Amino acid sequence: MKRLAGKSALITGAARGIGRSFAEAYVREGARVAVADINIARARQTADEIGPQAFAVAMDVTDQASIDAAVATTVAELGQIDILINNAALFTAAPVTEIDRDDYRKVFDINVGGCLFTLQAVAKHMIDRGIRGRIINMASQAGRRGEPLVAVYCATKAAVISLTQSAGLNLIEHGINVNAIAPGVVDGEHWDGVDAFFAKHENKKPGQKKKEVAAGVPFGRMGRPEDLTGMAVFLASQEAEYVVAQCYNVDGGQWMS
Ligand SMILES: NC(=O)c1ccc[n+]([C@@H]2O[C@H](COP(=O)([O-])OP(=O)(O)OC[C@H]3O[C@@H](n4cnc5c(N)ncnc54)[C@H](O)[C@@H]3O)[C@@H](O)[C@H]2O)c1
Repeated sequence: MKRLAGKSALITGAARGIGRSFAEAYVREGARVAVADINIARARQTADEIGPQAFAVAMDVTDQASIDAAVATTVAELGQIDILINNAALFTAAPVTEIDRDDYRKVFDINVGGCLFTLQAVAKHMIDRGIRGRIINMASQAGRRGEPLVAVYCATKAAVISLTQSAGLNLIEHGINVNAIAPGVVDGEHWDGVDAFFAKHENKKPGQKKKEVAAGVPFGRMGRPEDLTGMAVFLASQEAEYVVAQCYNVDGGQWMS
């Protein structure tokens, strides 16, 4: 029995990386999925590759009109939204003395505002329709503790954990479960950028930072997007009905909380 049979999901930032892996896993488990992304060309390619149970939708999580339009398009296409994954995010890094206010605003707007206002739009839809839905926010081990060059991104992910707690406590009265996943270090295009940043700021060779972080993971390697799909399916499934306002580490043993 497929665990998400008949369910409809909206996944933000699903054109690539972890979001794409979630879309693939949800389709394997019987769901239909809206692959939402600001990069609509890439989202279309991803949806085409996943197959007829996936479709692409343009969405900029920093723009309320775009959020509302993406929710409306998804409802028109899939009938309703049972599951939302707030996955879209931007990484940024700089020494504290060099943090730029525009960059700070942009990253908070995507990582925190995007999560909050997409959650709000989908929660309203779920409440209106009496849907006992599931909302999963992508946090990070970066939200569990700060890092010297990563103040802004870490702060956004701490905010996502906090939002998950408040929204989870608020929305469970409507039967909507809000939870979060905190990955550790997951290889892919996102981490290619992180590695390039540290190559520049810590004078490392390309690929060196990835090797260093991999060596620090108790499991013995960096994560892969597919390492996270089991938790994402579980939190969306009937089995997680009594799980409320939590943030789960899926990080190869890096963080304990
Ligand atoms: N990769 C890691 O090591 C890691 C670790 C911890 C947490 N995370 C979190 O997991 C999630 C996915 O990470 P990833 O590595 O797959 O990232 P990624 O950068 O590969 O993918 C992010 C996607 O979000 C999209 N996006 C960016 N801005 C957007 C906007 N304004 N509106 C809509 N879409 C937008 C991008 O086009 C991209 O497809 C993020 O929330 C990230 O913070 C990642």
